[in-house]
Amino acid sequence: MFLTAEEEAVLAGEEGPTRQQLMEILVAMGKVFEAEKMVPIRSAQVSGASYKTIGRWGLEWLSSLDAKASVPAILNPVGMDRIRWKEMDIDPVFAKNQLDVIAAYERLGIRLECTCTPYYLTITEYGDHLAWSESSAVAYANSVIGARTNREGGPSALAAAILGRTPAYGLHLVENRTPVFTFHVEGAPEKTDESWYGALGYLAGKIAGNRVPIFTGIRPSRDQLKNLGAAMAATGATALYHVQDITPEARVFKFDTTSLESITITASEVADVYSSAEPDAVAIGCPHCSDEELTKIAEKLQGCRVKKPLYVFAARDVITRSAKAVGTIEKSGAKVYADTCMVVSPALEQYKTIMVSSGKALSYVPNMCGAASVIGTLDDCLSAACR
Ligand code: F3S
Repeated sequence: MFLTAEEEAVLAGEEGPTRQQLMEILVAMGKVFEAEKMVPIRSAQVSGASYKTIGRWGLEWLSSLDAKASVPAILNPVGMDRIRWKEMDIDPVFAKNQLDVIAAYERLGIRLECTCTPYYLTITEYGDHLAWSESSAVAYANSVIGARTNREGGPSALAAAILGRTPAYGLHLVENRTPVFTFHVEGAPEKTDESWYGALGYLAGKIAGNRVPIFTGIRPSRDQLKNLGAAMAATGATALYHVQDITPEARVFKFDTTSLESITITASEVADVYSSAEPDAVAIGCPHCSDEELTKIAEKLQGCRVKKPLYVFAARDVITRSAKAVGTIEKSGAKVYADTCMVVSPALEQYKTIMVSSGKALSYVPNMCGAASVIGTLDDCLSAACR
């Protein structure tokens, strides 16, 4: 692997032991994946931020590091809303540990935005190289924006944030971004909500694994693409997909799909993913809600009063700029939390059945929260919360 003189100096320890240790991580990864060189990155998103997942060992490692991020970098969701954690009934011991983890990242120059939707906060453009780690964010960056990132682990994303570079392999290389099979969707409704694409992604991810597909027969919006990719990354390991005539690389490269294997998913298979089971709580915002989604929820909740716990999750910046919509949602008795989510927070472990509007949450909630999960449309979710 070729290293510049500057990279060699960091590896030799000339810029201190932390930068040396982090360069060792990047070089080791580069060698394993046969990268020829490093590429500069525009931003990083660092996972391993929830105390529920990194625990005491992770906190000790973070506290031992002494360096600062050299590119814009934010965190993945943590185990609680940093400010309203008491309202979430978070155990004070967990809260103290979580705040220590956040403080450790802040000391390393990571911006205290804890979200899986960094694309709502940091400038990310077509062709940018990134080091993002949360699987839905990676799928969105690659597929919807046409930026380039592998799915980083916590330590490699942190190393990339501090050193401003990442080894050039995998999805950083244009030759690995070509679709290898087609998903033809038969009977897709012309008008539907985001959950339908979550249910489609829930099925598609199981078939795709880590292969790059191109969809035909659908015309999703950006929020629908967000839900599609998140679910595929959860039930499969999809980090990049294309949608014919919709996603940027499909429009730029006009892939020839005639010789590709074609797999059909029908609308009736997607309909079977839905369930009419009665939940005891409802959670929306996986991935975190956009401004438009918060507005839509607020419009639908106008004048309603929730009778079951209704959680809504979004990035703090998005919540701040959507203050009017958030006010309407909370007036109904629902809670809009920042920094965390239904999967990484222990707050939702108290329920038996949680209704979600996301294919990713449908897949993760049972293992991560110990609750059954059912998927409904946004309307299903809000009416379940209000009856
Ligand atoms: Fe984001 Fe949590 Fe879902 S990190 S994608 S809201 S599981």
